[in-house]
Amino acid sequence: MTSCERWTLRTEHTSYTVRLSPLGPWAELDAWGPVGVENGPSALDWSRRTHFITPADVAPAEYLPQGQRPFTGADLVVGHSGHLGHSGYERGVWWRFSGAQQDADGLRLTFTDDIAGLRTTLHYATVPGTDIILRWTELTCTGDTELRLERLDSGAINVPVTGGARLTYLTGQWSQEFTHTQLHLKRGTFTMGSAQGVAGHAYAPWLAVQDAALPDDGTAPTYGIALEWPGNWHITAEAEPGGAVRVRAGRVPHEGAVVLRPGETLTTPRLACAFSPEGLDGLARVWHRYERHLSGERLHRIRKVLYNSWEATGFDVDAAGQLELAKAAAEIGAELFVVDDGWFTGRADDTGGLGDWYPDPAQFPQGFGRFVEDVRALGLGFGLWVEPEAVSPDSRLYAQHPDWVYRVENRPGRLVRNQLLLDLGRTDVQDFVIGTFDRLLTEYPIEYLKWDMNRPPTERGRPVAGPADRLDLDAEHVTGYLRVLDHLRAAHPHVTVEGCAGGGGRVEHATLARTDVVWPSDNTAPLDRLAVQYGFLHAHAPHMMSSWVTDAPGVFDPRPRSLAFRFVLAMCGVLGVGADLRSWTQEQRAGAARWIARYKEIRDVVHHGEARLLGTPEDPVCGVQYTEADGPRTVVAAFGTGVLDGAPLVPGRPARLRLRGLDPAAVYDDEDTGTAYSGAHLLHYGLPFAWTADHDAQLVVLTRR
Ligand code: DGJ
Repeated sequence: MTSCERWTLRTEHTSYTVRLSPLGPWAELDAWGPVGVENGPSALDWSRRTHFITPADVAPAEYLPQGQRPFTGADLVVGHSGHLGHSGYERGVWWRFSGAQQDADGLRLTFTDDIAGLRTTLHYATVPGTDIILRWTELTCTGDTELRLERLDSGAINVPVTGGARLTYLTGQWSQEFTHTQLHLKRGTFTMGSAQGVAGHAYAPWLAVQDAALPDDGTAPTYGIALEWPGNWHITAEAEPGGAVRVRAGRVPHEGAVVLRPGETLTTPRLACAFSPEGLDGLARVWHRYERHLSGERLHRIRKVLYNSWEATGFDVDAAGQLELAKAAAEIGAELFVVDDGWFTGRADDTGGLGDWYPDPAQFPQGFGRFVEDVRALGLGFGLWVEPEAVSPDSRLYAQHPDWVYRVENRPGRLVRNQLLLDLGRTDVQDFVIGTFDRLLTEYPIEYLKWDMNRPPTERGRPVAGPADRLDLDAEHVTGYLRVLDHLRAAHPHVTVEGCAGGGGRVEHATLARTDVVWPSDNTAPLDRLAVQYGFLHAHAPHMMSSWVTDAPGVFDPRPRSLAFRFVLAMCGVLGVGADLRSWTQEQRAGAARWIARYKEIRDVVHHGEARLLGTPEDPVCGVQYTEADGPRTVVAAFGTGVLDGAPLVPGRPARLRLRGLDPAAVYDDEDTGTAYSGAHLLHYGLPFAWTADHDAQLVVLTRR
């Protein structure tokens, strides 16, 4: 084995090269970018910076433990007694390189510390048809004393920069998820994460890194990561002197450390690493392709236009009211009717009922089965909301199984939204949830399930399981959650699953791989939603983005926008309707019917085409462009955001939205107006929009001749 060993992984358009450092036993990044970037001296060789620091601290290390990397951020912190016997304890690991394997499955690099009793294998894999490198780490306790993994990141990426790092992340809170935010990190550390047992509303487990010295346009080389973990997590970026940004990411154990017993192996969550030479928008398309890959065969399942009754009726659910809504929904062209919260016993409001998943006979006097059949007789598929991890203190379930909820002995438990959280790490709780799904899905012809989760774990303990510091409750909950989702897919493959956690609280790749759509936010107010979707589409694919047209003014932001605006916006992903159609005029219903019919014609382009984000919600005009990869159509959803007070920003002059990725020499026909544009015109000047107070959004379908 020589010290200049290098390994290259190839994706569709990129390569990722790792080498064994000549200065010590660690793997470091040699080159990552467009294919061929590996042919030349590494741009990441910072080894000459050695004053008052060790080479390992400045190395673009792929993964290094505390001990070996003493001063700058380590990826792994392992407490052990090792050779010190039970009287001693240290947190350092010093390993040696013990072998590499590269084959069709990817690359594996192994490092061993015989004194600590730890074997660490760095895994790399490519994903066919994408520009994604997947990374994860396997940690094995090879000694005869246990290890305490205090930090167990999945991996780190290194990005050379000259002007500090421009970090783009998606942040917010409930009802403002996925807000696109940027930070210029010249020096220091930036951390985001979640301790809420889900990805969380505050930050998405996703980060994009660019050299801040380069313009923020479609030409900046852009690196990104996303962590596949529906539990606690962190992503930490450290900008160092000399032009290095290193980003570490991983799960965060609730108990502070995970105990690894002799012979046990722990596999970290996968970290997806993406590169695009075309800025954030290009990176978005890398993520979209990856999420299509995650959807597998189910990508081709038509996402039906749904009607969801939550905003219309809240907890006031009964057969007559729901059927009235279903009838109106069917008339405007909806294909699916979803009854949200409030259909089960004890659920007059949010103080009760959770856990007792039986339809309330008082609300469905002729039986729930008959109600479902009545909905289906309207030509609609039927869907149901559930919150399977939740339990109300006054439920029968809680009375029977008080030990199924998280709690810390001798400490008060807290209610959030008046409810407790089941410990889904327990197999008996998982079996209960699976049994509940099996019962509901076999008893009734349900084809759509919305899985919600409305409270994070607070007092997280499992008293019967012994000392809390020896548990790994966050990971166990994740395992249970994924087991149930996997069961749903395997046992009820015809059921379309929507992921939701009080809006967009649980959106990450493990969930996206096991659901068909996700609910990005409870906020459907047009201008707020525009910002939510703009951020969401930077990280996630349109076929996963559930979006509803609701009433105006609605529950949130009252700034008025036309029916067209609300429809075109919801058509940017998977269209649904959540308005109280009972109060809509015939004219409004006819308008809705036209939009839905239009959507059905173009949804395949939206869900399968190449998406480009045009402008930002802060611009007077912005939009999303979807271009068929193997067909002639380009769909543009355009929004006039500069007409806030009823007048266009520049009176008398049409706004323009420049398109991208078209053939300059081709001719594109606008089906509606009969206007023909050259590709060059659309790329150079853009599509014109004459916004007015009433005309604030437009859907344009262009067909290439
Ligand atoms: C939160 C979800 O995000 C909403 O869409 C709705 O399902 C409510 N929960 C119901 O309680």
